[in-house]
Amino acid sequence: MKNTNILLAGSTGYLGSYLLKVLIEKQNQVIAIARNPNKVEHRNEDYLEVKQAEVTNPETLRDICKGINIVISTVGITRQKDGLTYMDVDYQANMNLLKEAVKSEVQHFVYVSAINGNFHRNLKIFEAKEKFVDALKSSGVAYTIIRPNGFFSDMKDFLRMANSGRVYLFGSGNQKFNPIHGEDLARAIVDMLDENTNEITIGGPDVLSLNDISKLALSALNKPIKIVHMPDFLRRITIWGLRIFTSAKTYGPIEFFLTLMAEDNIAPPFGNRHLSDYYNQEAKNFI
Ligand SMILES: NC(=O)c1ccc[n+]([C@@H]2O[C@H](COP(=O)([O-])OP(=O)(O)OC[C@H]3O[C@@H](n4cnc5c(N)ncnc54)[C@H](OP(=O)(O)O)[C@@H]3O)[C@@H](O)[C@H]2O)c1
Repeated sequence: MKNTNILLAGSTGYLGSYLLKVLIEKQNQVIAIARNPNKVEHRNEDYLEVKQAEVTNPETLRDICKGINIVISTVGITRQKDGLTYMDVDYQANMNLLKEAVKSEVQHFVYVSAINGNFHRNLKIFEAKEKFVDALKSSGVAYTIIRPNGFFSDMKDFLRMANSGRVYLFGSGNQKFNPIHGEDLARAIVDMLDENTNEITIGGPDVLSLNDISKLALSALNKPIKIVHMPDFLRRITIWGLRIFTSAKTYGPIEFFLTLMAEDNIAPPFGNRHLSDYYNQEAKNFI
C-alpha cells in the first residue's frame, strides 16, 4: 500500500504510534489527528500532516475525511485517564469518525477491537466496542475489524509485579495466550490495507501461559521465580465486588483483564518480536 490518503486516529497511543511509523515508512500520505499534536512522536513533512481534533467532539471533526481513502482508528480507553466512559470514547468517538467517513465516501474503515470481544459483550469495554463494530458493519463502508491479542505494552503489569519480588496469579496460571508487539501488529494491519479482509484475529509468535510470562518477567529482572497462585473464586469475587462498589470507569479495565486472563485466548500467530526480548529491554527501566 503506497501513496494512499489515510486518516489515522489514535496516533498518540501505543499501537497508533507504530502504525504511524509503518504508514510513513511505506510512503502513504497520512493525516494524524490528535487532541494534543505535541504527543505525536513522528515528524515527516513529506508524508505526514498532524491535525488537532477531539474525536469526542464532532464539531472538531467536520470534513476531516475529505479526500481520505482509508480511516484507521485505534481510539479507545485502555487505562482510564480522563473520566470518560467506554461509551463516550470506544463507541461514540468512533461513531463521530464513522459519520464523517460516510459523508466523505471513504473507501475503507479499519477499527481495532480485541480478541473475542464479540463473545464478551457483557463486559463494559466490549459493550461499547462491539456496538461500534455493529454500526461499522452496517454503515455501507468497506471495513476491517482487527481483533488482536494482548499488547506487549500491557504485559508490563507482570514486570511491575515481578519487580516487587512475586507475581500473583488467579488460578493455575496455565491459561495460554499469544501477546503481540505493537510494531508487528502495525505491520500486519498495513499489509492488510490492500486486501478485502472483513475481520481478523491476530496474536504474536509465542503462545505462553501466565506462568511462562511470570517467569520471563522475574528472569528479566534477575529475581528468583516466585509465583503465588490464588484461588480463582477470589478473581470472581473481585470482579463482582468492584462492579457493586465502584463505577464502570474503575471496574471496566479490571474486569476486562481479569476476564480475558482467566481463559485461553490463542490467535493465529504473526510477527517475530518476542516478549522475552521486550522484557529484557523494559527491565532496564526498572533497575
Ligand atoms: N492494550 C491491549 O492489550 C489491547 C489489546 C487488544 C486491543 N486493544 C485495543 O487497541 C486499541 C489501541 O490500544 P493502545 O494500547 O494503542 O491504546 P492507547 O495507547 O491507550 O492509545 C489510545 C489512543 O486513543 C486516544 N484516546 C483515548 N481516550 C481519548 C479521548 N477521551 N479523547 C481522544 N482520544 C482518546 C489516545 O489519545 P491520547 O494520547 O490523547 O490519550 C490514544 O491516541 C484500543 O482500542 C484498545 O482497546 C488493546
